[in-house]
Amino acid sequence: MPDSGTAQWVRLCELNALAPTDARGFDLQGRGVDDLFVVRRHALLRGYINSCPHWPGASLPWRKHAYLDQGANHIVCHGHGAKFTLDDGLCVSGPCAGQHLQAVALRIEEGRYVSALLPMPR
Ligand code: FES
Repeated sequence: MPDSGTAQWVRLCELNALAPTDARGFDLQGRGVDDLFVVRRHALLRGYINSCPHWPGASLPWRKHAYLDQGANHIVCHGHGAKFTLDDGLCVSGPCAGQHLQAVALRIEEGRYVSALLPMPR
């Protein structure tokens, strides 16, 4: 988690832009790869850094926004097939079993905007 002294809430999107079961990546730095992603499954809303614990820095999806498995029951890494729980990012199968994705704090602002607490460059 970022240090609150050097972190700032950054608005990502409107909550309504996410389907009831959805995942969306955000390339906030314009690097051509997502920095983080948000997972929504009905009332559940979670954010994670797009970096696989099996290979830190490796991007999870095989294409933009493709973070979930076919049944939308797990987050999946295309690298070597690791599966992670939606609610806490725990790897439940694959080469990094027992490790977690790095969570990003989220909040809903003004009743409709999803914002993430992110570290600010110094
Ligand atoms: S890089 Fe994600 S499972 Fe290997």
